[in-house]
Amino acid sequence: MLRIINVVGARPNFMKIAPVIDEMRRRSGRIEPLLVHTGQHYDESMSDSFFEDLEIPRPDINLEIGSGSHSEQTARVMIALERVLLQHAADWVVVVGDVNSTMAAAIVAAKMNVRIAHVEAGLRSGDRTMPEEINRVVTDALADLLLTPSRDAIENLLREGVAPHKISFVGNVMIDTLYRNLDKARRSRVLERLNLQPNQYCAMTLHRPSNVDDAKTLAGIIDALEAIGQRLPIVFPVHPRTRERLAQFNLSDRIGRMKSLLMIEPLGYLDFLQLYSNSRLVLTDSGGIQEETTVLGIPCLTLRPNTERPITVLEGTNRLVGNAPEVITREALPALDRPAGAARVPELWDGHAAARIVDAIEEASR
Ligand code: UD1
Repeated sequence: MLRIINVVGARPNFMKIAPVIDEMRRRSGRIEPLLVHTGQHYDESMSDSFFEDLEIPRPDINLEIGSGSHSEQTARVMIALERVLLQHAADWVVVVGDVNSTMAAAIVAAKMNVRIAHVEAGLRSGDRTMPEEINRVVTDALADLLLTPSRDAIENLLREGVAPHKISFVGNVMIDTLYRNLDKARRSRVLERLNLQPNQYCAMTLHRPSNVDDAKTLAGIIDALEAIGQRLPIVFPVHPRTRERLAQFNLSDRIGRMKSLLMIEPLGYLDFLQLYSNSRLVLTDSGGIQEETTVLGIPCLTLRPNTERPITVLEGTNRLVGNAPEVITREALPALDRPAGAARVPELWDGHAAARIVDAIEEASR
């Protein structure tokens, strides 16, 4: 029996672990999975609603580490998870994505000689000012099994000297979750609730420190939204970090007066899927949304200078526009007039990544 501790912490982790846990439970004669939530995200709208929407079993253990500086958060996860690993013997620790909880869990497991499988290994933006890039590099340096979503990720790992036998190309597990939930999302009433017509609005998310932690940058992005809003309304589920910054920079009033900008609370998985999949254009600085829009053929402008997911630009619907207001506006306005492109699905983004992930873990355990 393989004992596997799966660790999640923040919103983008939940859609990646859901199909993996499901697959492990199907193999209950051979695998005993445990789910640990670090509590990095703890709001109902950032955590609980995803467990409900995605039917993820309740975490067996919640470390309740909460918010803090990067070092505080990382250190708290390490201290709490070390105790868990002392109490629960494990053959593997599975970590997903690139958040602080991912890296913290990898360090703890490595120090305790527990094998690490990293789901979404090998992605690189090349930009170490991004906290996630540090998390990716450290996690991959420590992982024993590197499960990659795309071929560029394999190249990155080989370039960093990772032994080829540790790498397994499994595809994109977040797309498993997308396909599994599309029908369910179609039953969401979010468009009616917000009084929106399909294809007659833009959807936006924004939470990266590089976009929201500097007053001038954030005000510039709002300038761009004002211009785009002249053409189509923009629906903006606001991340708690962004809401705090808007208040801190005295921008809440200005943004509140913009009639074409609809600021709402963060949405659950199904409502958000229904929202962006029916939008004309997505504006985002998220990682996962670049991939999800690609698979659905929805045009996406990414408000970043770089991406760790280049396949979404090369093969998909994504464009990098940075955060200068004139560039955002210049790219967004014509994009509103372009007919939606066909969905182009990258290799192995086929809805079966979770099965390949668990196969690879079992194979590496023999
Ligand atoms: C984290 C991830 C980021 C991911 C994002 C998705 C890191 C380094 N970053 O960023 O990669 O894209 O999650 O959301 O791990 N807050 C709440 N309630 C919550 C969670 C956060 O109010 O449930 C607020 C707190 O003020 C907190 C701030 O948001 O200080 C930032 O949260 P944190 O987990 O540190 O990082 P995110 O910006 O969410």
